[in-house]
This record gives sequence, structure tokens and C-alpha cells, in this order.
Amino acid sequence: MKIRNIDLGNQPVVLAPMEDVTDQAFRMLCKEFGASMVYSEFVSADALIRNVNRSLEKIRVDDAERPVAIQIYGRDVPSMVEAAKIVESEAHPDVLDINFGCPVKKVAGKGAGAGMLKQPELMLEITRAVVDAVQIPVTVKTRLGWDVPTMINPDGIPFIVDLAERLQDCGIEALTLHGRTRSQMYTGEADWSFIGQVKNNPRMHIPIIGNGDICTAEQTKNAFDQYGVDAVMIGRATFGQPWLFKDIRTFLDTGEHDKDMTLDWMFSVLRRQIENSVAYSLREDNALKERKRTELGGIIHVRRHLASSPLFKGIPDFRQTRIAILRAETQNELFALLDEAKAKILAANRLS
Ligand SMILES: Cc1cc2nc3c(=O)[nH]c(=O)nc-3n(C[C@H](O)[C@H](O)[C@H](O)COP(=O)(O)O)c2cc1C
Repeated sequence: MKIRNIDLGNQPVVLAPMEDVTDQAFRMLCKEFGASMVYSEFVSADALIRNVNRSLEKIRVDDAERPVAIQIYGRDVPSMVEAAKIVESEAHPDVLDINFGCPVKKVAGKGAGAGMLKQPELMLEITRAVVDAVQIPVTVKTRLGWDVPTMINPDGIPFIVDLAERLQDCGIEALTLHGRTRSQMYTGEADWSFIGQVKNNPRMHIPIIGNGDICTAEQTKNAFDQYGVDAVMIGRATFGQPWLFKDIRTFLDTGEHDKDMTLDWMFSVLRRQIENSVAYSLREDNALKERKRTELGGIIHVRRHLASSPLFKGIPDFRQTRIAILRAETQNELFALLDEAKAKILAANRLS
């Protein structure tokens, strides 16, 4: 699959944009383990224009993580156009993605993100203007509609099938669909049948990236086989296990699960994530020189990942270790807690 001339290979699997999750340290690992493309956390157009340091940090990309998409959100044409130009000239990502899917009140309630599903004309106007404003490919990520009653238009055509065509007409070069409405937030199950309908609409020619509730290699394969999507995007299932992409890639390419991932190796990956997160937090950057750089900054980024790692699921007596991970303030504390968790896993395995 290609987005313009960016070749993502056969059956690409991409890392979803996730606020406070897909920071650079995490993206780099996901890329290393086989993610075909990675997305930044979403960045507010208004904050970028105001030159907010945290937003500038979010749009920083490293050549090793390419192809990488930077995602922006906002609620009016001028700010989205200006933010798109800032992203293109300051960060040089491969792709600029527009978020029309965020359901949270502070975003959608103000008309941005999934709020645009209630005002499709403005959504299309913003998309057209952003496509015209930058040279790099522009893509969109959205949901199936605002709520269940509005999922089918009065003429019987699904809202998202019609919207997808109109977004394509604006010049976007790929479309990601999360199979939920805004009202569903993250509840219920993602409905892939609508994603399939968009993909199978003969008038669509841009790549369709399917998203929602994919957690395993088997589910990823099924999404390609059953719905014909061009790529699969994975979000929550990657928490605390950037190596998920390695298993899925191996499975898609060979039909077998990856057998090289030992417990020691997975712990070494988490250790590297901690080191990278701290290193990124401490690095020098003139554009960000006013920001106070601390080891703690990197630790705050990474400790949520660690606490939610599926590696620790089912370990008896893990609660205290988990709380300690969430409270840790230094790299060495986290290393010691990882050692403690590993010892608990080994002890539990010996008993079973
Ligand atoms: C913590 C969190 C943060 C998210 N942040 C973003 C975001 O910044 N931009 C976006 O388009 N979607 C965001 N999402 C939605 C995901 O990209 C994805 O669409 C959703 O989680 C469904 O995919 P999944 O079932 O594979 O997790 C976020 C989701 C979560 C759980």
C-alpha cells in the first residue's frame, strides 16, 4: 500500500495516534519492531500557533521513525491552515493527519475532533484548505458518525460512506476509520462492517485504514481478509508492549507467531524505553530551550506504559509493584521495579 510515493509494504500495520502515549520513545520502538507507519499524539492547532513548548515537543520526529505522521486538530480553517504549515516547515513529517475523531468533551464539545461530524461542511472546508496549504500528503482520521441515529443518511446511504467520498474529493491521500460513533466514545464494540462498506465503495480509490479493537495477530489478519482494508491501525493493544508489531508482522508474513520474544528480551525492551524516554526529555533543543528538562519528565511519560504492560497481567501480588511504578521518579527506581516484577513472574512460573 502506498500513500503517494510512501510505500508501506504489503498489509501494513500502523501505530495509532494516542495522546500521552505515542511519544517519540515509544514510536521508535514500535517502528523498530515492525510498525509500518507511526503517528504522533494529536497536537492542538491553537497551541502550535501560540508556540507552546509541549506542542513543539510533540511534533519533533527522528529519521529512524519514518514514515511518520503528525496529527493536528482544531476548529477553524485559518488556525488549521497555519498549524499545518508550521508542522510541515518545522517537523518535516512524511504525512500530515487531521483528527476528526477525538470524542472527549474538551475537544469535541468545542467543535474540533469528532465535533466536526456534526458540521461536515466545515470539516470538508478545513480539509480542502489544509490539502492546498502543504506539499506533503494529507490524511484524515475519523469515526462512523456522531451517534447511532445519524449513521444512515435520509437517502439510506451510510453517513460515513458519503463523507468518505467527499473527503476523498478534497484531496486527502488516505482515510482512517475508527469503527465507532462519537457517542460511543470507547464503549461497545467497533463496527467494522461500515469500514468494509467504505472500502468496497467502487468510487473510493484512496487507501482505507481500519481501526478499532484489534489486539492480536489473528484479528489483524481477519481485518485484512474480511473487510479488505488497505492497512490496520492499532492503538490500545500496544500499551506496554511495543513488540506486538513484531508478532503481528511475523504472523502476517509467515502464518506463524514470533518465537524469538523471550521474557528477558521483553524486559530489555522496557528498559530501553525508559532510557530513551529520559534521554529525549533531557536532550538539548534550541526551540525548546525555555522548557525545564528533567529526568522526571521522561519518567512521567514512560511509567504509565510500564504499569499497563500485559507482561504483568496475572502476576500474584503485583498491585504494590504497579503502584510503585506509577509513583517512581527516577530511572534507577524503575529499573529496580522491573527487576522486582521479573522476579515475581519467574517465581510464579516456577510454582505453576
Ligand atoms: C489514551 C488514548 C489517547 C488517544 N489519543 C488519540 C489522538 O491523539 N488522536 C487520535 O486520532 N486518536 C486518539 N485515540 C484513539 C486511537 O487512536 C484509536 O482510534 C482508538 O483507541 C481505537 O483503536 P484501538 O481499539 O486499537 O485502541 C486515543 C485513544 C486512547 C486510548
